[in-house]
Amino acid sequence: MVERDQAAPPADQLAAMDLTDAVQNHAFSDRVLIRSIVGRPDGGAGLAGQRVRAAGWVRTGREQGKGTFAFLELNDGSCPANLQVIVDAGVAVLSKLVATGTCVVVDGILKVPPEGTRQRIELRVEKVVHIGEVDPAKYPIPKTKLTLEFLRDHLHLRSRTNTIAAIARIRNALAFATHSFFQEHHFLYVHTPILTTSDCEGAGEMFQVTTLISEAEKLEKELIKNPPPSEADIEAARQLVSERGEAVKQLKAAKASKADIAASVAELNKAKESLSKLEERSKLKPGIPQKDGKIDYTQDFFARQAFLTVSGQLQVETYACAVSNVYTFGPTFRAEHSHTSRHLAEFWMVEPEIAFADLQDDMSCAEAYVKYMCKWLLEKCLDDMEFMAKNYDKGCIDRLRMVASTPFVRISYTEAVELLEEAVRGGKKFENEVEWGIDLASEHERYLTEVKFQKPVIVYNYPKGIKAFYMRLNDDLKTVAAMDVLVPKVGELIGGSQREERYDVIRERITEMGLPLEPYEWYLDLRRYGTVKHCGFGLGFERMILFATGIDNIRDVIPFPRYPGRADL
Ligand code: 4AD
Ligand code: MG
Repeated sequence: MVERDQAAPPADQLAAMDLTDAVQNHAFSDRVLIRSIVGRPDGGAGLAGQRVRAAGWVRTGREQGKGTFAFLELNDGSCPANLQVIVDAGVAVLSKLVATGTCVVVDGILKVPPEGTRQRIELRVEKVVHIGEVDPAKYPIPKTKLTLEFLRDHLHLRSRTNTIAAIARIRNALAFATHSFFQEHHFLYVHTPILTTSDCEGAGEMFQVTTLISEAEKLEKELIKNPPPSEADIEAARQLVSERGEAVKQLKAAKASKADIAASVAELNKAKESLSKLEERSKLKPGIPQKDGKIDYTQDFFARQAFLTVSGQLQVETYACAVSNVYTFGPTFRAEHSHTSRHLAEFWMVEPEIAFADLQDDMSCAEAYVKYMCKWLLEKCLDDMEFMAKNYDKGCIDRLRMVASTPFVRISYTEAVELLEEAVRGGKKFENEVEWGIDLASEHERYLTEVKFQKPVIVYNYPKGIKAFYMRLNDDLKTVAAMDVLVPKVGELIGGSQREERYDVIRERITEMGLPLEPYEWYLDLRRYGTVKHCGFGLGFERMILFATGIDNIRDVIPFPRYPGRADL
């Protein structure tokens, strides 16, 4: 066994020892990561002769040489590549090792395989330390090639597949890249609430959070088990209170001893208490509490209606208007009944907010951020991207390179509509009619980015009628300073805007859109006191993963997808 990594060596030493020194155990487990063997530039060949402990799950296994030895392709998720492991029949019962999904921990010696094999290194096992057996007849995902749709029915096991593990590593890399980008540019990471009482988009797509229903159910059960008191029970209790009251009065009149009076008062208090309990219980009514014919939310957990957030923007603006550059990155929820391959009911959003910045700055930030993520994947995740290119989307690496290096097109909404109308005149058929004022449909967005320009396109200055109340009204009074970033494969990746910082104008906009002012008073305060020009955007994190990997369905790029009718695990 190699020594445990006690203290990590300095980076320069690490680089120097990469190909020469002993392979290191993982800092927090008693084995070597497979990536530190096969992920080296020499494919691990330089480690020949070393003793290591490796561990993972068998991707494929087969007995060979009439059952004298077995080949196992072992994967521990640290990289897409497997470690080839060879076990002799004398070392373990081979039939227990070869089933796909079996967990094994093995000690052995790294050897260079014979000429003509694909592997640069393999592990010759001396001792099998652990076997987590699998019955292949019962294992739900015994085969290696299964459809993504099939895997969606086995969320708890699909992370054992090469595809889902590669997506997990890409997702992880993009999250790291996100923090790295914003931290490098001095943005503060702010945690905005998941439970909220404001509807950011004003689109009425919020999931309500309430304990009224579970409380009502609890009460209903309780009342069945322990029925409320009858009128007669209460009358009897009242009677008892008045009798006890009378008794106290008489004792006092008879100048009885202090102790006797006190005992009698105690009896009276007991009777009063039990009466008030009965009266309280008699008021309990099954069902959701109502007041004036409406649900009485003052009895709900927060004493008001609450929801899962659709966006952290409004709250993060309070920090932008104080510490100037901020971002939030967290789960957001939308109760849209859309069954498309681009929508989830729970998805993650990255939302920067920049003070002292306008729509142009917003577009520049969005473009720089997307480019940064593309470069990051090319530099740090190329092995997983190659897996995606080979198995899902031949063009995905070229697409990342193109996006990382090509300036995004910027066109106004009006120009976009003109281009779409021109396409229609040229014979292009869209399902949704094109005219100024429409919300661009996914087919329009994809035409612009995939066919017309074949690169990312930023469309800005949308009609105010189709956008949220907080977007800044342009001087034409018809459009707002909104922008959407459209990318090939996905369509809308980012939605953002310059925010309306003028108190009178935003007040007017809220009213004009038929929204109540009261819930937005705190938001208006940001304009009442020390208002500032500011802007921001939201990037749909799963859409970025779709764009990067070329995977077709958004349900396959989030570990636990939630969509209408499904919320497994
Ligand atoms: O365009 P949206 O609705 O913008 C906002 O929520 C703003 N408050 C953001 C901001 O300015 N801070 O959503 C932003 C992005 C979309 O461009 C899309 O990529 C993604 O979030 N998105 C979804 N992703 C998956 N499933 C859904 N149901 C999505 N809805 C929006
Ligand atoms: Mg949008």
